[in-house]
This record gives sequence, structure tokens and C-alpha cells, in this order.
Amino acid sequence: MLRKYCVILVVLLQICLSYSFYVKTKRVCVIGAGIAGLASARYLKENGINFTVLEATQYIGGTWRYDPRTGTDEYGQPLHTSMYKHLRTNLPKPTMELKDFPLPEHLPSFPSWRDYYLYLQAFAKHFDILKYIKFLHNVIQVRRVGDVWKVKHEYLLTNETFEEDYDYVIVGNGHFSKPNMPNIPGEELFKGKIIHSHDYREPEPYRNRRVLVVGAGPSGMDIGLDVADVARRLVHSHHSRINFTTPFPPQYIKKPDIQEFNETGVIFKDGSYEEIDDVIYCTGFHYYVPFVDESSGLTVQPKSVVPLYRYMVNINQPTMIMMGLVVRACLVVALDAQARYATALIAGNFTLPPRDDMMLEWQRRMDSIRSKGLPDSYIHILAEKEDQYYAEISEESGTERVPPVMFKIRALDTEAKLENLYTYRNYEYTVIDDHTFTRKLEDPAVRRSLNP
Ligand SMILES: Cc1cc2nc3c(=O)[nH]c(=O)nc-3n(C[C@H](O)[C@H](O)[C@H](O)COP(=O)(O)OP(=O)(O)OC[C@H]3O[C@@H](n4cnc5c(N)ncnc54)[C@H](O)[C@@H]3O)c2cc1C
Ligand SMILES: *[C@@H]1O[C@H](CO)[C@@H](O)[C@H](O)[C@H]1NC(C)=O
Ligand SMILES: *[C@@H]1O[C@H](CO)[C@@H](O)[C@H](O)[C@H]1NC(C)=O
Ligand SMILES: *[C@@H]1O[C@H](CO)[C@@H](O)[C@H](O)[C@H]1NC(C)=O
Ligand SMILES: *[C@@H]1O[C@H](CO)[C@@H](O)[C@H](O)[C@H]1NC(C)=O
Ligand SMILES: *[C@@H]1O[C@H](CO)[C@@H](O)[C@H](O)[C@H]1NC(C)=O
Repeated sequence: MLRKYCVILVVLLQICLSYSFYVKTKRVCVIGAGIAGLASARYLKENGINFTVLEATQYIGGTWRYDPRTGTDEYGQPLHTSMYKHLRTNLPKPTMELKDFPLPEHLPSFPSWRDYYLYLQAFAKHFDILKYIKFLHNVIQVRRVGDVWKVKHEYLLTNETFEEDYDYVIVGNGHFSKPNMPNIPGEELFKGKIIHSHDYREPEPYRNRRVLVVGAGPSGMDIGLDVADVARRLVHSHHSRINFTTPFPPQYIKKPDIQEFNETGVIFKDGSYEEIDDVIYCTGFHYYVPFVDESSGLTVQPKSVVPLYRYMVNINQPTMIMMGLVVRACLVVALDAQARYATALIAGNFTLPPRDDMMLEWQRRMDSIRSKGLPDSYIHILAEKEDQYYAEISEESGTERVPPVMFKIRALDTEAKLENLYTYRNYEYTVIDDHTFTRKLEDPAVRRSLNP
């Protein structure tokens, strides 16, 4: 009898041991040490999960690090950052904060890139994350072989390549680095200089010049006004249907889409012509994950990455998480929430629905977009669904929810932008509780302390 119990006990013990062994040896590869990678690292560490962050540059912070150079860096790698000298955040402080780590009180409501970059450095230090990051390790291939991810990366100091097996991959390589170039007829004739906003650094080269800015997204508007400060003439070509009520300066001229370039300028779709010295394409970016192999089951196109569950889980290989593919949202708190969700998934706190169910849900969304004649890129837009998204992913994963007040702040901030792009950053937003906030005009003295 006793012997029988002993045998059962031993078997039980073995099951427990092999289970804990399995749990302990799960290995996670995080690609990139921008906000996506840093937030992931923080939660993976807190949950005692074995992980490594591979970062191609020698810096954390991704696009938030300003680099005066353009083109390639000292390792021959394309410069990742799209940051420019005068950039201030386009969302107010509460929506730019990672969980339990507030931005310093003394900073203005919309901090400069420099202050925000310092914040990310302080975050990495506070959560003691740097030791998990392998800097100058550029991921060149991620392949699915059997039940593991084979991650190949090169160390840029020696050109040595490595390949390791991982159970999970969190892809946080950023989506604002690969320029979308519009390719307009006659570009090759044009004698002036054409750049993309990815390579825009400062307005000074445009002083007293006739500059064409193309596109009215966040970059087009922000860079347009930055350049309008010094330009002789700022020609803004776009087809946005937004009614901008901003009091643009007299040197600002709105034009429709471009018909073609010639040597000296641009002919627009309305037949009008403008002499132009320099062009800045603020035409957005392409999704670009060159290292993700087709064995991942993902279809990556310039404007869409599919199929994804919850805007992040690769449905065909659900041990791969694609971070930050949501559009029109508070990206920082969204990335933070996605990092919590990914960690809870890896920790085994919850399980995903069966593949067919995830696929069905995704297909339904895609069909609805296509039936309206909209492009596939709409699959990434959260917009008015943002708060619902936070509710759903938190409920499914048992992780902390991004409170509704974030979405409400973004909504009012968007209104303020439409009203006046010169003044929307003068407001200070204070969170009262999960649902309410107050807004007041910021004391101008605070802004004088801006750290440009
Ligand atoms: C000009 C500009 C202004 C912005 N302003 C705001 C704002 O005001 N508010 C806001 O919320 N968001 C803003 N954003 C969005 C911004 O992208 C997010 O805030 C956030 O930085 C995204 O973080 P990420 O980690 O996803 O990507 P990134 O910051 O781009 O970081 C990606 C990291 O991955 C690394 N990497 C890339 N490829 C590889 C590889 N093959 N192997 C290893 N490492 C690799 C890169 O070197 C980089 O460090 C702005 C973006 C831009 C470009
Ligand atoms: C993580 O896993 C690797 C490979 O199995 C191992 O070498 C390393 O010691 C592990 N780290 C921790 C902290 O368990
Ligand atoms: C690594 O490769 C690059 C480009 O191929 C080359 O320029 C560089 O010299 C190499 N570095 C080393 C240490 O071999
Ligand atoms: C913009 O203003 C015009 C004229 O006032 C109006 O017809 C149009 O509907 C407005 N568009 C939007 C998107 O509000
Ligand atoms: C470019 O086109 C405009 C408008 O047709 C014309 O006035 C101008 O002379 C052209 N420039 C050159 C160099 O042909
Ligand atoms: C997973 O569950 C454990 C136990 O309830 C909890 O301590 C941990 O915070 C959870 N992890 C995440 C990322 O939510």
C-alpha cells in the first residue's frame, strides 16, 4: 500500500518538475530597445521570464534619440531615428507615461524629444533593464523551424553572426523608419533637393527658400510649421479633407496634389505652378520587418501586416507578437498595454482562443473594411475603438487596463490640434481619476524651461 502511494507521489513529483522545468526554460527574444522593447523587458523581468533584448544600435529609446546625421551610421546601418531638433511630443504628458513611472513634474505639458529621451533612459535604469539588452546586435532573420524560433543576428562590432532558439518572439523594431516615397513624375528632372521627413533634422537649411512640403499627417503639419518659420514661401501640397482653422502665416500656401515636377518647380493637379527650391515628403512610412521569414505565416505589405489577433498576435504562429501596429491611438500607453498582454500570455496567465476563432474574428474585421472599399491599412486603425481595445485586452489577459481617461484626453487634444496647431501644446492636462481629467492653459513660465 505504502509502496503504491510512493510510486504515485514520485510520478506526481515528476510531472510537477517537468512542468516547472518547461515553464522556467521558456525563452523570449525581444527585438528592439525602443519603447516596445523596454516596456516588454520590464514586465518579462517582473514575471521572472528568461529573455534577451537584441538592439541593432548602441542606444535605447529607438526613434526618440535625435541624431544629426542622415543616411547610414558608423556601422553602415541605415539610421533608424526620424527625430528632428525642434520636436515636442504631439500628445500631452499623461498619455506619454509608462505605468507607475511618471514624467518629471517640472516638464512642460508637451515635452521636447530630449526630455522624453531622458525619461526613457531613466525608465531603463529604474527597472534595471540594460543588462538584458545586447546592443549592436542586428537581427537579420527570424525563422520558424519545428516548434522554435531561430533568431539570427549579427554583432556589428565584429560581424560575427549568431543563431539561437527561442520559444517566443516579441517584435518591437518600430514602424517609422522606412520612408514611403511617393514617386512623382518628373522627379528626376527637378534640380532642387528632395528628402523624406525621416531625414528632416532642422529648419535652418530652408531659411529664405521656397519649400514644398507634401502631406498633411502629423509630420507634414508639424514639419510644415517648423519650416514655415524660416522659409520665404512654404507650399503645402495635400489632399486632407480636414478643415484646418490654424491661422497660417502669409508665406504659407495650400496646394492640391502634385501633377508633376519640372526642372524648376512643381505643377499641381489644379494646373497651377510654383517655383520650388527644396522638397520635403511627409508621406509616411512603410511597415518593414525584413528579418521576419515567410515561415512566420505573416503577410507583410507596405501598409499592412496580417493576420493579427488583437492587433498584435501573429495568428498563424501565435508565439510571435508584433508590437505597436495600432494607428490613431496613444501609442505609448498602447505599447505598454501590449507588453503586459504579451507577458501575461508568455507567463501562461491565459490562453488564446483556438486559431480558427482568432482567424474568424480577424476575417470579419477585414471583410467589413474591404466591403466599404477601404484599403487594407485600415485593419490597424483604432481611433474611436481605442478605449474598447484596452478594455478587451485587459479583460482577456487579466492585466491592468489603460484607463478610459487616456482616450478622452486624446480626443480633446485632437480637437485642440484641429483648432490651432500653434497653440494646442499650451494646454496642461491633469488626470483626476480613471475617467476624468481637467485642462487648463499652462503657465508660460513652464514652457520657457523647455529643453530643446
Ligand atoms: C518623428 C516622430 C514623432 C513621434 N511623436 C510621437 C509622440 O509625440 N507621441 C507618441 O506617442 N508617439 C510618437 N511617435 C511614435 C513613436 O514611434 C512611438 O512613440 C514609439 O517611439 C514607438 O516605439 P517602438 O519601440 O515601437 O519603435 P522605435 O522607437 O522605432 O524603436 C525600435 C528599435 O528597434 C531597433 N531595431 C530595428 N530593427 C532592428 C533589428 N533588425 N534588430 C535589432 N534591433 C532593431 C531600432 O534600432 C530601435 O531602437 C513619433 C514617431 C516619430 C517618428
Ligand atoms: C536563460 O536561458 C539560457 C539558455 O537556456 C541560459 O543560458 C540562461 O542561464 C538562462 N538565464 C536565466 C536567468 O535563467
Ligand atoms: C564588417 O562588415 C562591414 C560591411 O560589410 C565592413 O565595412 C567592416 O569593416 C566589417 N568589420 C569587421 C570588424 O570586420
Ligand atoms: C469643411 O468645411 C467645408 C466648408 O465650410 C464643409 O463643406 C465641409 O463639410 C467641412 N469638412 C469637414 C470634414 O468638416
Ligand atoms: C516648368 O513648368 C512651368 C509651368 O508650365 C513653366 O512656366 C516653366 O518654365 C517650366 N520650367 C522649365 C525649366 O521648363
Ligand atoms: C500573471 O499572474 C501572476 C499570478 O497571478 C501575477 O502575479 C502576474 O503579475 C501576472 N502577469 C502579468 C503580466 O499580468
